[in-house]
Amino acid sequence: MSTLRVIPGSPLRGTITLPGDKSISHRAALFASLAGGESRADNFLESGVTAAMLSCLTALDIEWTLENGRLRVNGRGLAGWQHPYGSLNCGNSATTLRLLAGAVAAAGIEAVLDGSEGLRRRPMGRIIEPLREMGVVIQAAPGDCAPLHIIARPSGEKLKSTTHVLAVASAQVKSCLMLAGLAADGVTRIVEPSRSRDHSERMLAAMGVPVQSGPAVDIHGWQVSLSPPPGALTPLNITIPGDFSAAAFLIVAGLITPGSDLLIPGVGLNPGRTGLLETLLEMGADIQVLNPREQAGEPVGDLRVRASLLRAGQISGQRVVDMIDEFPVFAAAAAYADGPSSVCDAQELRYKESDRIGALCAELARLSLQVEEAADGFTIHGQPALPGGASVDPHRDHRLAMALAVAGLAAQNPVEVQGAEIIHESFPGFVEQLTALGAKVELC
Ligand code: S3P
Repeated sequence: MSTLRVIPGSPLRGTITLPGDKSISHRAALFASLAGGESRADNFLESGVTAAMLSCLTALDIEWTLENGRLRVNGRGLAGWQHPYGSLNCGNSATTLRLLAGAVAAAGIEAVLDGSEGLRRRPMGRIIEPLREMGVVIQAAPGDCAPLHIIARPSGEKLKSTTHVLAVASAQVKSCLMLAGLAADGVTRIVEPSRSRDHSERMLAAMGVPVQSGPAVDIHGWQVSLSPPPGALTPLNITIPGDFSAAAFLIVAGLITPGSDLLIPGVGLNPGRTGLLETLLEMGADIQVLNPREQAGEPVGDLRVRASLLRAGQISGQRVVDMIDEFPVFAAAAAYADGPSSVCDAQELRYKESDRIGALCAELARLSLQVEEAADGFTIHGQPALPGGASVDPHRDHRLAMALAVAGLAAQNPVEVQGAEIIHESFPGFVEQLTALGAKVELC
């Protein structure tokens, strides 16, 4: 187990090379394996969670290569997928398990989807129930947890076209059901209470799948409707944008560390992902969005970030969904803001890689920050100088590990993050990037 020691006080300056977007990398690998022919996806994220997706594709006998971030996948088409040998090990990746379940259901093959102890604790009822409504025969461990066992469908039989009304906005659940909808006998409709990230809609539409989205008229919410494509999915040829959720750690690091000035080129700016950017701007952050453009069907821009004095921020409603992965690093920003920042409507955070409300509050309190935990969020009483000077436990959560390290960059005393190897799950170059920018961080 490695410990990341953060010695505060050095300004961060320079230009950052971001890893490819995690959500888009997962989708590129999986959707490409359903296409008819060879797909290319450059700037693919090489990390723990995407390695889990690729190893599942290997078990499904899909041919792929990955060299210097260049992924090539030989798609077999929905009809070409075969029963895997052994179970599909999704590691720590809920995105892999939930999206793969939809693809396996569409392909009509038998498979067991499993993962780490942590993944086995995460809720899967939210995909099991709607998949069953579509006619998928699926068994699960007690509590509707992984391993999930999907039974093969008789050849020639379609899944039932269904309207799904989701209780919680979730791009993973939506994408699972969209993938299952590729093998339905008509339109699959998914209504979410708030709009979640739409990477699947954009990518599947570019591959020739009829997909429409907009406000639902008969129910309160946002709906996506998908029809099975007339032929094989068109292969992809894309360069994956930089990951906003990785950039978020460097943005906050630059804002809270006095004297910092950063340029982050090629950041994905999908509106379903940039809630933290909106929040930080409201808090008075000096962030400029430069050179807005489109890449791989997604909005992209370059960000210039300069150290700023932050006001407190308040988060609720749709904003929660638009920054669902950014609460750990939002907390690091709020720790240095002027006044109490609060988060509500965010009970979903309890079901991420860790209980991101309980774990975050416990670890920030160790850094002598005043925090109050609520069922659906937390309040952080920001202070100009966080004492720090403690060892913290990221609860095997990559985003918690990086956020606690970032919080330490502007503290009064060093901070040690235990179990820092977990960072590799989503941002393998995190420590090297911070070092190149001038931060004093050591892995020991
Ligand atoms: C993801 C969606 C989010 C997010 C996860 C990746 C995706 O989960 O937390 O890191 O790629 O679709 P939910 O949509 O289930 O909240």
